[in-house]
Amino acid sequence: MVNQISLSNHIRPLDNSKDLNPVADLIETCFYEHMDADGREYLHQIRRAAQDAHFLHWFPGAGEMASYPLHGYVWEENGEVVGNLTLIPSFVRDQWRYLIVNVAVHPDYRQRGIARQLTLRGLDHIREHGAASAWLQVRDDNFSAIHLYNSLGFKERARRSTWISDCIVTGDEPAPTTTVGRRLDREWNMHYAWLQRDYPDSVAWHLPLSIRKFKPSIINKLDNFFSDMPTSHWTSYLDGHPIGFASIEPTRQSSDTLWLAVAPDHKELAIKSLLKQMAHIAPAYRSVSINYPAETADETFINSGFTRQNTLIWMEVSFKSNVPSIFQKLFDRLVTL
Ligand SMILES: CC(C)(COP(=O)(O)OP(=O)(O)OC[C@H]1O[C@@H](n2cnc3c(N)ncnc32)[C@H](O)[C@@H]1OP(=O)(O)O)[C@@H](O)C(=O)NCCC(=O)NCCS
Repeated sequence: MVNQISLSNHIRPLDNSKDLNPVADLIETCFYEHMDADGREYLHQIRRAAQDAHFLHWFPGAGEMASYPLHGYVWEENGEVVGNLTLIPSFVRDQWRYLIVNVAVHPDYRQRGIARQLTLRGLDHIREHGAASAWLQVRDDNFSAIHLYNSLGFKERARRSTWISDCIVTGDEPAPTTTVGRRLDREWNMHYAWLQRDYPDSVAWHLPLSIRKFKPSIINKLDNFFSDMPTSHWTSYLDGHPIGFASIEPTRQSSDTLWLAVAPDHKELAIKSLLKQMAHIAPAYRSVSINYPAETADETFINSGFTRQNTLIWMEVSFKSNVPSIFQKLFDRLVTL
């Protein structure tokens, strides 16, 4: 383990004018095995930003709360960047939260306490900036990283799987009593309640999910009507009663997104019938991805042509009380109106 003197020599804030390429190389080395198309695009953007001198001159003025290109700390040894930690601040409801990402140490420098020191520095930074909490996501099979974060006081808040399909298949026929149709306006309260259960605040804040946009208001309908990438909402019925909702949202990423919100007592059946409908309406040339609570309806996803891309444990260190603020309560009320 390094001592405090060598620590002060090695850790420094990331400098966007010179660290972007070495950090991109380090991220590629450390995450190569699990990198998907969006990850490769992310690296491409970091490297492109490194070349854009004009942008980099402008960027320093953006200050602490700008998260692009990169913001965080590096570990430098013998003139090389061999460790990195990136901090992404987000203002959620009425609080600042930070997401810690890209914790990476070059393979030749591992098990010397570098990741621990970088994470401790990151946590100090977050605390110094008055944020309510620090979050991170770690693969459920990354035991050394999980051990590290547990030992630093992170607590598990959620476990989520990402499912990907290049071709959704209809699988077995669902029970004849199940039907699927366009979501009706009057079903919104039920849809909203089940979305909140399947995408609780503890995970929704860092997903590309805007539940408010799913509300069947006139503004959202007009917005969707004129959009070149409209979202469509579907309801699954059992004996005429809603048991689940699916919203298929086109994206500019490598896959479109499917948001599922289903009745707790009919999960398998609802997901099965909704995926069958998606097999008919999702464009054949686009992949579809689903973020869903881990260990839920696994067999149904697999039988419908989905592969589990990963299961991530969402972990948090909280610095403040979690009592909902008046702003949060007001926000919750406005969304349901
Ligand atoms: C995970 C990673 C960042 C750890 O970096 P590191 O500098 O080697 O970690 P540290 O030396 O600070 O070790 C931290 C703790 O994890 C343990 N640990 C680290 N690597 C380990 C391994 N391969 N096997 C078992 N334990 C390990 C250490 O023993 C230490 O625990 P201890 O202090 O109780 O002894 C590094 O392996 C890495 O870059 N992996 C690839 C990228 C990645 O998975 N990042 C995490 C994303 S969430």
